[in-house]
Amino acid sequence: MKRTLSLSAQTEVENSQHRASLEKKPHDVSKMFDDVAQHYDLTNTVLTGGLVHVWRKVTREAVGARVGLKVLDVACGTGASAAGYAADGADVIGCDFSPGMIARGRELHPGLDLRVGDATALPFADEAFDVVTISYGLRNVVDTQAALRDMLRVTKRGGKIVVAEFSQPTNPLFRATYFEFMRLGMPLLSTIFSSDAPAYDYLRESIQAWHSQKDLAAVMHEAGWRSVEYKNLTNGIVALHRAIRK
Ligand SMILES: C[S@@+](CC[C@H](N)C(=O)[O-])C[C@H]1O[C@@H](n2cnc3c(N)ncnc32)[C@H](O)[C@@H]1O
Repeated sequence: MKRTLSLSAQTEVENSQHRASLEKKPHDVSKMFDDVAQHYDLTNTVLTGGLVHVWRKVTREAVGARVGLKVLDVACGTGASAAGYAADGADVIGCDFSPGMIARGRELHPGLDLRVGDATALPFADEAFDVVTISYGLRNVVDTQAALRDMLRVTKRGGKIVVAEFSQPTNPLFRATYFEFMRLGMPLLSTIFSSDAPAYDYLRESIQAWHSQKDLAAVMHEAGWRSVEYKNLTNGIVALHRAIRK
């Protein structure tokens, strides 16, 4: 299960305006994303070596957006995924609690319906959407269960959830190399390409502390989702979980 690491993280929050603790507080998380919003998409591309675009494509296929479907992208950030679902013809809303990320998304994707809102108290009616999805957001939500339950509430019966999230590489040698890259390479790259390098220390720590593929499937089931299944992308750097509201 998810490890709640305290490290010296609390102290780091106190010393920095910019990064959240692993004992996350919603305001710290929201502020941290406000601060990285301007260069968020570029930094994502650099830190993942472009793989984020491959993962978004696979996620987009799993979401299966099309004309007539109502899709909610929770923790949508700057709308990079939501824009794809809209391009596929769906009626899409993106929702995120960082006003900075939403503002940047509106600049990048004029006309896309992006709203400020909390994943744990979604400002939508029960059973309003055919598909709810969240990419690289669930790990950042303070109360994972509350978000999964509220996403269930706004999904129609028979509708689905798609979760894309960093996970645990399955091959031990690959996993060791990957975590070593994160420890050594990520601070360097984030210093060069991001306006806020400490936020990317949080990124690394939060990925290492997050659920394994199997554990996240169990957490989703506990929240009320059924027929939970997952597949690994790039040897499990990312996992794509899917489930149904029965
Ligand atoms: C790593 S970014 C991912 C953004 C986007 N989904 C993407 O794929 O690029 C994580 C996002 O989760 C949002 N977030 C974290 N906790 C949230 C919450 N409780 N409610 C809404 N958004 C939240 C942050 O503001 C941030 O924009």
